[in-house]
Amino acid sequence: MHKVIINNTSKTFEFLRWTATSKCSFTNVNFAFSVSSALKFFVFRGVLASFFVLIFISPNCLSAQQVSKNATGKNGMVVSAREEASRIGMEVLMKGGNAFDAAIAVHFALAVVYPQAGNIGGGGFMLAITAKGENVALDFREKAPALAHRDMYLDADGNVIANLSTLGHLSVGVPGSVDGMAKIHEKYGTLPWNELIMPAVLLAENGFIITELDAIEMNKHLADLDSLNPNNDYFQPDRPYKAGDTIVQQHLSLVLRKIAQAGKKGFYDGPVAAMIVREMTKGGGILSFEDLQNYQSVWRTPLVGKFYGHEVITMPPPSSGGIALLQMLYMLEKLKIKNYPINSAEYISLLVEVERLAYADRSQHMGDPDFYKVDAAGLLSAAYLKKRYANIKPLAYTPSANVKPGHTESEQTTHFSIIDQFGNAVAITTTLNSRFGSKVFVSNAGFLLNNEMDDFSSKPGVPNQFGLLGDSANAIQPGKRMLSSMTPTIVCKNKKTVLITGSPGGATIITSVLQNILQTLVYNKSLEEALAMPRFHHQWYPDKIYMEEGWQSGIFTMVVSTLEKAGYPIQYRDLIGRVDAILKKGNMYYGGGDPRGDDMAAGY
Ligand code: DON
Repeated sequence: MHKVIINNTSKTFEFLRWTATSKCSFTNVNFAFSVSSALKFFVFRGVLASFFVLIFISPNCLSAQQVSKNATGKNGMVVSAREEASRIGMEVLMKGGNAFDAAIAVHFALAVVYPQAGNIGGGGFMLAITAKGENVALDFREKAPALAHRDMYLDADGNVIANLSTLGHLSVGVPGSVDGMAKIHEKYGTLPWNELIMPAVLLAENGFIITELDAIEMNKHLADLDSLNPNNDYFQPDRPYKAGDTIVQQHLSLVLRKIAQAGKKGFYDGPVAAMIVREMTKGGGILSFEDLQNYQSVWRTPLVGKFYGHEVITMPPPSSGGIALLQMLYMLEKLKIKNYPINSAEYISLLVEVERLAYADRSQHMGDPDFYKVDAAGLLSAAYLKKRYANIKPLAYTPSANVKPGHTESEQTTHFSIIDQFGNAVAITTTLNSRFGSKVFVSNAGFLLNNEMDDFSSKPGVPNQFGLLGDSANAIQPGKRMLSSMTPTIVCKNKKTVLITGSPGGATIITSVLQNILQTLVYNKSLEEALAMPRFHHQWYPDKIYMEEGWQSGIFTMVVSTLEKAGYPIQYRDLIGRVDAILKKGNMYYGGGDPRGDDMAAGY
């Protein structure tokens, strides 16, 4: 492993600041800037260094902090896929930064310590509520390059060419993350931009320690990563990876430094943009310099729905998640879901039937609103939904073949949740699409590009990698955004935030968020209990209930056999979703990192 020597003055300064803040944390696992290295450093640098440290220890460090799967805090909370990122976010909050500042720092940190999905070469959505009560949605979703066209993944006979939209240079959409972070900072940031990126720079430069799960995922994708990056010098040469290895990302640290100095231009212009374009030319991609220059994220109007006395604020198109979530919640309240015990066969059947309807609508009526008029009001109207749920009854299986998109006219992502002492709440779901995206690293730049183009419908009736169907509303067009399932969501009661939630999981994102809302706000489960519950999912086609393996044991088996007797086809599968949420009860925030991953909550 590389040993990184920190030897210039400005780096020394930054190292000190972030060492100082991490020194305040009492639980210190796998953190690159450990107390012991800090101590060695102090001895080395002497008294002057210690003086700086004292200056930068914020008085907030004296308040109790927690970093764990399930943390509590009265002032602020950050929950993300990785401990390092949650910790960095919390430290920003403790320094007096707001939830938007913390979100930027967490996003860039995840680009380093969670390359499966954290990114600068991907895109995502932010859903937020400001301390003043303003609902905010930012769409930094990738776009199809200008040279993209509807049939770009079809062969001469009109058949979809395997893997073309999921692997390699042609699968890459124009990245939106850096522009998104810059827009958030411009409008809501309070701390200097470069200060929010420096922790990520240092993580890349000094290295981070990988977990068991990271090692498994990295090893699983080595063949594709190697074949698409023949001169691969990314991550480290010692393979297979194992838990405890240190990953140093020198190129990435330089790119992040550039972004720290030059803002969005540090990515969409200059040497980094040139490296992206060079990579595209080398690998037969179509993303151009103009595509990068033209990229703009967009402020959108959040969707708001009511559910059992709560206000649910969620992501509008080009996410399908918000509309589908609000449709399902509305129908479930009308079907009196509360009368059925959670995770009973009746409960599951009702969720499955509303999921079937919502995903059927998703397939036909949703796409990028800049290209396709999505009739959100119609899809969410009481009159329309009344017709949709009219025939639903517990344990009455409706084959998907009998359900059509009804409207009259038309796996690896990551989610993090943050709340600050001022009352700003931020939910961001961000992705490269598949684990490690297109598997293409930008040569000499050390970051992965997404394979988001697969979220378009390559051909009507042909499912994408998540088994999702689509039609012309989500057909490929130059400059268009591909439909998403990402569903960052905030729920309020009496204008106060009670739940910040979201998940990765492709098609299963929406149903994971749905279940999290029901578990915590209707059935009053603690967040810890809720996240530990086994999940299930239905998406119209294929017509089966996907169930996590947890359903195969204990009392759950009886529930499953009742469903099977009622005619519901069931398929067991590996994990569904990874919800990182914050629940408010009384005057306490409860942060929950999904037990399915290395996710961690940090609160103070
Ligand atoms: O935007 C979407 O819906 C997908 N690109 C999300 C992909 C995903 O969640 C993969 N994760 N497990």
